[in-house]
Amino acid sequence: MEARSQFPALDRQIYGKPLIYFDNAATAQRPRSVLELQQRMCVEANGNIHRAIHRLSADATALYEAGREAVRSFINAPARENVIFTSGTTASINLVASCFAERYLKEGDRILISEAEHHSNLVSWQLACGRHGATLEVLPVDEDGEISLNELERRLQAAEGRIKLVALTHISNVLGVINPVREVIDIAHRYAVPVLLDGAQGVVHASVDVQALNCDFYAFSGHKIYAPTGIGVLYGKRKWLDAMPPYMGGGEMIETVTFEKTTYAPLPLKYEAGTQNYVAAACMAPALELSRQMAEDPALQAAQRTMQDFLLEELRKIDGLRLYGTPRNPECKIPLFSFTVEGAFAGDLAQILDKMGIAVRSGHMCAEPLLHRYGQTSMLRASLAPYNTLAECESFVASLRRAIKMLR
Ligand SMILES: Cc1ncc(COP(=O)(O)O)c(C=O)c1O
Repeated sequence: MEARSQFPALDRQIYGKPLIYFDNAATAQRPRSVLELQQRMCVEANGNIHRAIHRLSADATALYEAGREAVRSFINAPARENVIFTSGTTASINLVASCFAERYLKEGDRILISEAEHHSNLVSWQLACGRHGATLEVLPVDEDGEISLNELERRLQAAEGRIKLVALTHISNVLGVINPVREVIDIAHRYAVPVLLDGAQGVVHASVDVQALNCDFYAFSGHKIYAPTGIGVLYGKRKWLDAMPPYMGGGEMIETVTFEKTTYAPLPLKYEAGTQNYVAAACMAPALELSRQMAEDPALQAAQRTMQDFLLEELRKIDGLRLYGTPRNPECKIPLFSFTVEGAFAGDLAQILDKMGIAVRSGHMCAEPLLHRYGQTSMLRASLAPYNTLAECESFVASLRRAIKMLR
C-alpha cells in the first residue's frame, strides 16, 4: 500500500526545504480519512452525544460508539464496557492513579514503576502516593535500557504485599525498548498485584491484545496513532472498573441524582463525565483502521525495518554519538533513536536541523529521572512512522553530520 500520500501534512515545505517529520513519538500526522471524518462530523453530525432525541445527536452518538467499537476490536477488549474514552494517556493514567488509589491505597503501601517512565506515569503516582501516605518504588533499567525480571520478582517478594500496583511503560518514549510486559504481568499476578501499562508508544508499534496480555489497565492516546489530539483510551478489567469510585462528577456519568444521593451510570459512562470529545473519538475508527492496514502490509513493514537498520548503523558511525536504548535482542527495539553527541548540545542540533526542514525532538522528553540515570539533561530523538522513507533517513544522517560539524 502507499501510505505517504494519505498524509497531506507531509507535503509541507519548511524554510524552503521538504519537511522530514521525525517526531512521530510526540505526535503523528493525520491521514485524509481522519481529516475528512473530522470535517464531515463538524458539518453534518455536530450534536451532543447520548443526550438529545434529535437526529444530529443520534448521528454523533452512533459515530462516537463506532469509535469505541473500533478501539475495542483493535486491542481485543472483551466488551465496550472495558473501553473508557479520556483526553489522552495522561488523563487515563491519572484516572487510575486517582480512583484506584482512593479505593485501595493506604499508609505504608507502594506503587512500583520503572526508571524509564514518562512523567505521566510517574508524577500521577507520586501525587496519589502523597495523598495516601504511600511511596513509589522504582525498578531500575540497565545500561542498555532493559528492566530485570528477576529484580522485579525480588522486589515483589520483599514487599510482602505492600506493592499494590505495577505501573510500567509498554515501550519507553526515550529508549524505544519494548518491555517484556507479558512476563511482567505473569510475575506480578503471581503476587496478586495488578498491572497498568502505559501504552502511548506501545499501541503504535506492538500489536496489542489486552486479553492475551492479561493486563489490568492499558492507557494510550489517539494523537500518536493518527487520530486527532484530545482523545485517549483507558482499557480496564471489569472487576477494577466496577470496584473503583467514579473519577469526575457531572453529566453523563449519572443514573439518578438527588441532593441526598447520586447513583452512577453503568460502564463505560461511569467514567465519562461531561461532554466528551466525540469528534476525535469517532476519528479513532479510520485512524486505527489505517494503522492496522499499515501494520499488516509486508512491504511497508520491510521498508520500516530497512530504515531502522540503516539509522542504527549510520548513527553508530558518528564520532562521539552515544545511543540510548540498545536492547540485546534487536527485535525489542522500535524505530526510535535517542542520542547525545559529544561537543554538540541537543537543543542546538535540533534548531539547526529544523532550519534544514527536519523535525526532531530535543530536551528531557518528559522523562527527567531517566535522563539523569544516563548522566544527561537533554537528548535528541528521531522517531519514525511507516510514512517515512529511506531517502529521508539518508538526508537526516547527512544533515546531522553537517549540523555537528557546525557546532564543533
Ligand atoms: C510513553 C508515554 N507515556 C505517556 C505520554 C503522554 O501522552 P499524552 O501527552 O498524549 O497524554 C507519552 C507522550 O509522549 C508517552 O510517550
